[in-house]
Amino acid sequence: MAVAVSIPVASNQADILTDSHGRIIHDLRVSITDRCNYKCIYCRTGNDGAQFPELGIEEYLRLIRLFVSLGITKVRLTGGEPLLRRGLLDLIRELSTLRTLSGEKLDLALTTNGHLLEGLAQPLKDAGLARITVSMDAVEEIVFERITRVPGSYNAVLRGIRATKQADLGPVKINCVLLRGFNDNQIEAFAHFARSEKVIVRFIEFMPLEEDRLWSPEIVVGQREILDRIRRALPIIELPRHDTSETARRYGFADGEGEFGIIAPVTNAFCGACSRIRLTSDGKIRTCLFSQIDHDLYGRMRAGATDAELQQYIVHTVQAKEARHHIGEPEFLKPSRSMVHIGG
Ligand code: 5AD
Repeated sequence: MAVAVSIPVASNQADILTDSHGRIIHDLRVSITDRCNYKCIYCRTGNDGAQFPELGIEEYLRLIRLFVSLGITKVRLTGGEPLLRRGLLDLIRELSTLRTLSGEKLDLALTTNGHLLEGLAQPLKDAGLARITVSMDAVEEIVFERITRVPGSYNAVLRGIRATKQADLGPVKINCVLLRGFNDNQIEAFAHFARSEKVIVRFIEFMPLEEDRLWSPEIVVGQREILDRIRRALPIIELPRHDTSETARRYGFADGEGEFGIIAPVTNAFCGACSRIRLTSDGKIRTCLFSQIDHDLYGRMRAGATDAELQQYIVHTVQAKEARHHIGEPEFLKPSRSMVHIGG
């Protein structure tokens, strides 16, 4: 796929993307489809729901190059379910050739539900992908499929995780969103799973981003409770953060075997260290998961904007990034899009 885009780069300005709160943005999440082959109860309604237009692969590529020219060093492909997207391997092949402003390889990752990974792990590795995160909300088949609402999904994902390790796309991270009454009985089993499967399990507090109205403060299983429960099952030790914008608090087990993390956007918000920005599958910039508006980057591109004009638009949009979310506060408003139409 030949894509000719020349971008003027001010190489002495590594931190071009900053916001009005002093945060440097270096992490871009790109959704490449809002279609998904699962209907997880904490995300979808159970019906098919709306589907937004998708850009062409070379259009994502042009936009991602622009972000990288402005200081993005990490790109995570998401959805919907990104493995459903035709052209994904071409996109990864092209992205793997990009260099950051300081001349390094782009940190290229992908989040998937894992359903199609068994056949795709090796091709993804060969295309140049560096890391994979698999969403997996239970280690017990019945509980898992009650959440995904797809028979056979549990074994498909398990095979996908093993294929990912085989393809040397590790360490595999597993995201588990905990919901009281649905899968909070899986916490201890997940700790054992992290050790036996040699994966990094990250428990995520449930945020109000679903299509249905399921969220309440009571359904959130908080960081403290998760830690207490694991600690009762196995002795744990805290591990140092990789970097200051890392969302997960990391823990290991006292015998050195296994690792897990907790991402606590609800009970321990990390907005002050946020380094993220999102591009939706229909080409809109979202400056926060909980934004009330989208910023139409693709519309400008389609109308013929030059690279320099698009770069300027990105810089201005990032400047106005929200200070923080307001989950659990009286003034909280649901975001203008649900998770499946934003991208994780
Ligand atoms: N709250 C927290 N995490 C969520 N995810 C999806 N919806 C929510 C939510 N409402 C997770 C997915 C995926 C990651 C991108 O975000 O499980 O692993």
